[in-house]
Amino acid sequence: MREFLIAGNWKMNGSNAANRELVSGIAAGVPAGSGFSLLVCPPYPYLAAVGSALEGSPVKLGAQNVSEHESGAFTGEVAPAMLKDMGCDYVIVGHSERRAMYGESSFQVAAKFQAAQAAGLTPIVCVGETLEEREDGSTESVVDFQLNAVFDAAGIGAFASAVVAYEPVWAIGTGKTATPEQAQEVHRHIRGRLAALDAGIAENVQILYGGSMKGENAAGLLAMPDIDGGLIGGASLKADDFLAIAAAAAQG
Ligand code: PGA
Repeated sequence: MREFLIAGNWKMNGSNAANRELVSGIAAGVPAGSGFSLLVCPPYPYLAAVGSALEGSPVKLGAQNVSEHESGAFTGEVAPAMLKDMGCDYVIVGHSERRAMYGESSFQVAAKFQAAQAAGLTPIVCVGETLEEREDGSTESVVDFQLNAVFDAAGIGAFASAVVAYEPVWAIGTGKTATPEQAQEVHRHIRGRLAALDAGIAENVQILYGGSMKGENAAGLLAMPDIDGGLIGGASLKADDFLAIAAAAAQG
């Protein structure tokens, strides 16, 4: 049985003071029950402080990006082993903002995915189409292309310890959420692609939805059979908002 994973992607937001308040609010309000886990992904400079603030709570720590290289002359980059060293369990790779604004190709994303796993991190690989791609009917082929790069580089076996996040670009930060049915259709497609390669792995891999998920729409999305959690941007920046989504997962 797959557990829900509710992951907060703080993006480039926060400060020491704001993070302290956010983390203590989240830690104090983790819903009772089982079958779900919570994760926060702060900006790099705050990993250490947020990691210490989370000690003793079940909330896990992750990062938003990682280098595909192990170490060396890569000014400004952060190696997978460094994230592990800072207490991260997860790292997001291939977020659409990185693909669109920093030119990350699906091949580079696949290399990051592999490097993260080699260092013992669980990659959360993001895929998703733009509005234009959805409107011209290429949602599935876009998602397939993005996933194929990872299958080709890492193999299907790598998905035994990886998470996929379906994030339609048109729903990110826009307040426009995919309907549960729209999201489920793509989630089912993704699981089907995985199943064609390995049915057992497909059954166990968590596929998160991301894009304007919030307390009010979380229960509907999480009720879908192939939606196993959320990657939350805006609503992860306030403890109450994040906890409302966690509560939906705890009830699901
Ligand atoms: P959003 O962001 O929840 O603010 O739409 C989601 C994401 O980009 O991961």
